[in-house]
Amino acid sequence: MSQNPPAHAPATLRNREALWAVLSRCLPATGLLLEIASGTGEHAAFMAPQMPDGLHWQPSDYATDALADIDAHARASGSTRIRPAIRLDVTAAVWPVEQADAIFCCNMIHIAPWAAAEGLFAGAGRLLSTGAPLVLYGPYRRNGQHTAESNAAFDESLQSRDPRWGVRCLETEVVPLAAQAGFRLEEIVDMPANNLTLLFRRV
Ligand SMILES: C[S@@+](CC[C@H](N)C(=O)[O-])C[C@H]1O[C@@H](n2cnc3c(N)ncnc32)[C@H](O)[C@@H]1O
Repeated sequence: MSQNPPAHAPATLRNREALWAVLSRCLPATGLLLEIASGTGEHAAFMAPQMPDGLHWQPSDYATDALADIDAHARASGSTRIRPAIRLDVTAAVWPVEQADAIFCCNMIHIAPWAAAEGLFAGAGRLLSTGAPLVLYGPYRRNGQHTAESNAAFDESLQSRDPRWGVRCLETEVVPLAAQAGFRLEEIVDMPANNLTLLFRRV
């Protein structure tokens, strides 16, 4: 086990309360919440201790070297409801989880090729049953337009790092993809710093 403190993502401290306010009212009381692209695992460590007893949190990431840090944050949280982190690449045709009762994915689809968004919705469509929530968080364009100068600058910096990355458009890209995979957009929640939380339901 590493002696270094686990990785820390400062943004998680800024968005976790607002995220929990949304998640806590749409998550089921029992079953499995699958988190995609957990990163440092700090959202799990903050939220899982506040979840109902019957709900368990499965963190995951495609970066193998993230998994030990996710587990370290989980241990530090003291929560027994966080499962050991697993490697999950959303673009894989088969995921290492066969069923989930809710899926949460924060800040991934703009920092990955579009194939990751396609893989996310396809996989969520395979795992979730009718009515189950899929919750996404991040910056989005609305009807093709950026909602803030800071998001436009962020988009530019993303695309300069990798031209396949970028802030996605809710109406022309994300919602049509979701519909194709069997999801309807139930709610759009404005979040701090020009981000949105999107609540989709499996049809
Ligand atoms: C900006 S980080 C977000 C981490 C965390 N959700 C948060 O908000 O702090 C993006 C994450 O997406 C993960 N990721 C990128 N492509 C992925 C893929 N194809 N499948 C699963 N995770 C992926 C990266 O490894 C990284 O942990």
